Amino acid sequence: MSSEETTSPSTSDLIDAVHHEHEHLRRLFKDLAGSFQSLARGEMKREERQEMVTGAAEDLEVALEDMLEHFNQEEEVFFVVLEERFPEMKDEIHGLIKGHETMSQRARWLHEQLTRPIDEMERNVDVVLDVVQSLARLVEEHTRDETAFLDSVLNKVPSEERRQWLEKMREI
Ligand SMILES: [Fe+2]
Ligand SMILES: [Fe+2]
Repeated sequence: MSSEETTSPSTSDLIDAVHHEHEHLRRLFKDLAGSFQSLARGEMKREERQEMVTGAAEDLEVALEDMLEHFNQEEEVFFVVLEERFPEMKDEIHGLIKGHETMSQRARWLHEQLTRPIDEMERNVDVVLDVVQSLARLVEEHTRDETAFLDSVLNKVPSEERRQWLEKMREI
């Protein structure tokens, strides 16, 4: 069981907030890959498979929405202030944004597959499984790289300034 962290306004720090978000997204996509693995094994009855695909489509919709919101906050606020503050980090920041594009494209493609009739989707199930697994891996790697990068730069930013950045991000 996970213990809910409570953060008072004075301790709600950007570094913690980003870690929390990343862990949330990482888990969503990992779970999704797990559901698809069971589906691709093809041991279930049609009705059960249909139910599973419907559930996976709903889970993916939530994951996609949360992911896009997170990317948006990073690209519209966080990375903008970061690049102003550390212009020498421009290439790294742009590399992270490229990663967002790839992950968004794959997640949208997957969502399209899940809204098709189940027979069509199942004809393609190996490709779908491949994409969902590669997506979970990309989210994992992106999260790892981004966390390492952010931890190194954010520690150079005064905590008051980090708090302001976080407020700005939450306004989106
Ligand atoms: Fe992120
Ligand atoms: Fe990111």
